[in-house]
Amino acid sequence: MAGTPTVMPGPGLGNTLRRDSWWTELVPALVLLNGFGIYATLRAFEGKFYQWGPYLSPFYSPLIDPQHHWWPFSPAILILAGPLGFRATCYYYRKAYYRAFFMDPPACAVGEPKRSYSGETKFPFILQNVHRYFLYLAILFLVFLWKDVVVAFSFDGRFGIGLGTIVLLVNVTLLTIYTLSCHSLRHLAGGKLDCFSCATFGKPRHSAWSFLTSLNERHMWFAWSSLITVGLADFYIRCVACGWIRDLRIL
Ligand code: FES
Repeated sequence: MAGTPTVMPGPGLGNTLRRDSWWTELVPALVLLNGFGIYATLRAFEGKFYQWGPYLSPFYSPLIDPQHHWWPFSPAILILAGPLGFRATCYYYRKAYYRAFFMDPPACAVGEPKRSYSGETKFPFILQNVHRYFLYLAILFLVFLWKDVVVAFSFDGRFGIGLGTIVLLVNVTLLTIYTLSCHSLRHLAGGKLDCFSCATFGKPRHSAWSFLTSLNERHMWFAWSSLITVGLADFYIRCVACGWIRDLRIL
């Protein structure tokens, strides 16, 4: 077919034929991941202002040894690996931080620093394959977080609703949707099947797979929104617990 032959750019970081502002995609990932990483680290090591009334910060849930009987440091450190591992090995976040931090590659059809590529077939990145096990752990964490929301409706033994209740409820809802939209969960439900009608429980599995697929298509949005709400939920509880603001009682 006649036409202008495609000329590929030479190797090297940033080399590309793209004429759009491809680098702007990196900015939100850099800002949000750096900002959240710094804030979450400071809060996890702070070890105080994580509880007020019926509210418990999601960074500290489940709360283990708050009286320091056998663990002298912040209780958040004991549980940090679960949510951190789940996010760090998430397929979407991998794409985001490989691009933003490692520039490997910085964007589609944009040159990367080196020419050899071993992907995730070698140490340490081969460890990313443990994501499905972090998924199981994340589901367990959700059980504790939902329990915290139920507790957040109880003020001195009576039913009530505060702004903190709403904050925790919104946060756990988004965390649940983010978890349900996980690629590994979709794969478990039916993504690995070639033929639903030939499989055991094929029909319900197809329904589950279809539902999870519809969520999975928006996985990136759930990843960012749940990251923001979990940070805001902790920040709200810190503000109330240290007396910066008063909890707004709605009911
Ligand atoms: S792929 Fe993102 S949470 Fe599993």
